[in-house]
Amino acid sequence: MTQTSTPRFRRLLVTGGAGFIGSCFVRDVLARRDGTQITILDKLTYAGNRANLAPAEADPEQAARLRLVIGDIADPSVVGPLMAEADAVVNFAAESHVDRSILDPEAFLRTDVLGVHVLLEACRVEAEKARTGKRSGAPRFLQVSTDEVYGSVETGESREDDRLEPRSPYSSAKAGGELLARSYFVTYDLDVVITRGSNTYGPYHHPEKLIPLFVTNAIDDESLPLYGDGLQRRDWLYVADHAGAIGFVLENGAAGETYNVSGANERTNRDVVAVLLERLGKPWSLVRTVQDRPGHDRRYAMDGSKLRALGWTNRMPFEEGLAATIDWYRDNQEWWRPIKSGEWDAYYRRQYETRLAGSTEAER
Ligand code: NAD
Ligand code: TYD
Repeated sequence: MTQTSTPRFRRLLVTGGAGFIGSCFVRDVLARRDGTQITILDKLTYAGNRANLAPAEADPEQAARLRLVIGDIADPSVVGPLMAEADAVVNFAAESHVDRSILDPEAFLRTDVLGVHVLLEACRVEAEKARTGKRSGAPRFLQVSTDEVYGSVETGESREDDRLEPRSPYSSAKAGGELLARSYFVTYDLDVVITRGSNTYGPYHHPEKLIPLFVTNAIDDESLPLYGDGLQRRDWLYVADHAGAIGFVLENGAAGETYNVSGANERTNRDVVAVLLERLGKPWSLVRTVQDRPGHDRRYAMDGSKLRALGWTNRMPFEEGLAATIDWYRDNQEWWRPIKSGEWDAYYRRQYETRLAGSTEAER
């Protein structure tokens, strides 16, 4: 997290702050001990987890600056009063899993588009108060978006002004959310900034995404369901780097601008799987080739020079970050085992039962 002795915004509303990246942002900002106060608004969906905040809640000085409100960003009656107290809002809240968006697109529209709209409207009310002298300064609005809005990039690297060509219900909803945010900058002069981050990995990641799913399955000697040929490419970004970049853009980004947050660590899924099996000392025979994801994006890659020119660089080398992440899952089973029980079984069956039944041994 970027260190600033005097933060520009003292009271932050962090929506989705109990999720994977949002909770890292919250933990890191509070750990700076610079007086920043954080209110989290989180619906605690299957992906939200209060345990992600445990390190901050266990520290009395940090806990005194943290408040968790359980509620929906799409509920104006909850959002309005919280926005009135905020100097800035960082919107992490989203339905975030492509595979779930294929099974149930509607939840994605509700949160990733309509929820953003409710937040923007509340922000507009506060901006109007600032214009009429009823509060000092309008809140800044940071929308956390994703590289997936560019769609599959066969060659080269996406730049911020490239066309958006999202191809899944998830990425389409995220594109809708960020376009709406941008329109509030253009139309209502709100102080909006947008980040588009790469595939993020690290501790506290819900175990349905590739890296935590495969690490936790491998620990239990269960099959690793690799979609299609496994040669899809992703650009991997360590979670603390992603959270740090968001904090950096919040402080330094120009209103109306969008910034790619690239990990500059492009790997095939096969490469990632091979590294994690080796670290865990588990055999490749656990890997099963299963039916591919419909509309599967082949590759994401972004040009990160705009944010680098502003002064941000990521710190964590991929191999080191992946090793630390694998070790964290091995050492923190009390965090993920409860998640992989109860409702998990129904999701896992729906997503993988047929796939695994028709799977074949994955060639090396
Ligand atoms: P996550 O699924 O782990 O967390 C999302 C959080 O939002 C959860 O705590 C959930 O309870 C909360 N939430 C969901 N719907 C809500 C609602 N209607 N109201 C209030 N809270 C709600 O997601 P993540 O991986 O931490 O991603 C955070 C943000 O970053 C998302 O906007 C995502 O699109 C974006 N992003 C993620 C990645 C990635 O690889 N994980 C990469 C780029 C961008
Ligand atoms: P994921 O973590 O879902 O992120 P995204 O689809 O948003 O990039 O998946 C990362 C890659 O791993 C993607 O190419 C799909 C692939 N994948 C599998 O091969 N098997 C799986 O069980 C999962 C969850 C993902």
